[in-house]
This record gives sequence, structure tokens and C-alpha cells, in this order.
Amino acid sequence: MSIVTENVRFEAGNTLIVNDVNLTVETGKVLGLLGPNGSGKSSLLRLICRLRNVRSGIVRLEERDVSTMARSELARRMAFVEQQATTETQLTVKDVVRLGRTPHRSVLSPLSAKDDTAVHQALTRVAMESRASQLWQTLSGGERQRVHIARALAQCPTELLLDEPTNHLDIQHQLEILGLVSKLGITCIIALHDLNLAAMFCDRLAVLQRGEIVATGAPQQVLTQDLIGNVFGVRAHVETSPIHGRCNIQYILD
Ligand SMILES: Nc1ncnc2c1ncn2[C@@H]1O[C@H](COP(=O)(O)OP(=O)(O)OP(=O)(O)O)[C@@H](O)[C@H]1O
Ligand SMILES: [Mg+2]
Repeated sequence: MSIVTENVRFEAGNTLIVNDVNLTVETGKVLGLLGPNGSGKSSLLRLICRLRNVRSGIVRLEERDVSTMARSELARRMAFVEQQATTETQLTVKDVVRLGRTPHRSVLSPLSAKDDTAVHQALTRVAMESRASQLWQTLSGGERQRVHIARALAQCPTELLLDEPTNHLDIQHQLEILGLVSKLGITCIIALHDLNLAAMFCDRLAVLQRGEIVATGAPQQVLTQDLIGNVFGVRAHVETSPIHGRCNIQYILD
């Protein structure tokens, strides 16, 4: 088991935001994290990568408690693409992706051939190689998102957390990015809103509601009409796609 959370809890003031979450992601598998707005997906991802500290409970990476790991070690192995990632300074696309190599380099060392290869491969994987010298701030929303994903890939992580990585992406790039991530063979947790895409690309799903996990399992076990009704308040018809064999959800307007 690569990523495990044991009774993870987080509060802000008097509000319970993540409530006793127990999750397991097997090595090399993709877990889709679903749930309505405000259900705690981003908060949970930030707890897993230690951008926030848990109030109680434990996050483990291959059995080890992340709170006992050095930040530098965690940064070398875990990459996080945030929901609204920004890059403030006047950096080029290539500079932004090079930031992904920072945990692997000592402060003053120049970029090695290995660093250059990782940056080049990451840009190619998200089809942004031709934009390497463009200023990040001049990119479109979807292009920025792809560059942030490239930065995470350049980090060569063993665990990858993605918070709504398909935000801003056109349908072709949504399918390409999720297809790419699902074939990387690294352990991933992806927060997603599109239930059909989650069913297509994730090995397992976990559903959060008001900070609690209310369902986990294979997509066809989790994405039932009852769950979609109870958690998202939407009527749906769920069938198995004859094309890809995964769930296909159609929403019914009242
Ligand atoms: N530091 C904080 N102080 C107060 N409330 C917070 C804090 N952090 C998160 N929250 C609240 O916790 C809830 C969960 O937020 P979170 O961003 O994790 O939701 P989410 O599932 O990612 O939602 P979305 O789908 O909109 O991205 C929200 O109601 C949010 O306002
Ligand atoms: Mg969020």
C-alpha cells in the first residue's frame, strides 16, 4: 500500500473539515476523489502532502508516517498540482517546469543532463514543448494547467496528487491528461468533478461528503444512481458503456 490515511482529521476554528478519513491507495494505482464543492477534497490532498498538518490521525507513505519524514525527502517523492496553481514571477514555461527539479538538486548546482531530459520529457508529454520559451503569464488557462502538470511530472514523483487537473482543459486535453496520468504507473490521487471521466480513468473511487468518506470501491460499485442522488442531489441513469466497459452516467433533469 503506497498511500494510507488513518483516521485523518482536520478542523479550522470550530468547523470540522476532514473527519476521520481512512483511505488506501495501492502502489501504482489511481484513486479518484469525488465529492460536492466544499466536501473536503482539496483539504484532504493538502493534508496528505503535508501542506497542512493533521489535527489527529496519520498519513503513511509505504508504511512510513509522513510527519516523521524530512520535508526534502517528501518533496523528492511526492508532487502536488494544486487546484488554483499560480506562478507569480516572470518565468518562461521551461523555467516553471524546471522548478519541478528543485527537490533533486543542491542549491548551487547547475541543471544536469538528467534534469534537462526530465524537463524536456515532461513538456513533451503535455504537448507544450513548442512553448518552452513563452512567458507563463501569457499562456491560456488550459495551457497553464498543462504546464503545472508538466512541472509535477518533471519532479519524477512516486506519488502524484492532482486537484481538479482537468480544470480549464478542452475535452481533447482532458482525455489526454487523464490518459497520460493513468498510464504513468505511479500512485495517484486525483480530485475530479466529472463522474464519467473518473469512471473512465480511475482504478478506484472515494467519495467525500461533508468531510467524511461515504463510499469507496471500483467505479461501478461506487457510482450508483442512489449515491449520485444522495451525495450530489442529482437524478442519474447509470449504465455500462458498450465502448469502454466503464460506467456511463446520464443526468436526468426534473
Ligand atoms: N482554513 C480554513 N478555514 C475555514 N474553513 C476552511 C478552511 N479550509 C477549508 N475550509 C472549508 O472547508 C470546506 C472544504 O474545503 P475544500 O477546499 O477542501 O473543498 P473541496 O471539496 O475541495 O471543494 P471544491 O470542489 O469547491 O474544490 C469548505 O467549506 C471550506 O470553506
Ligand atoms: Mg477543491
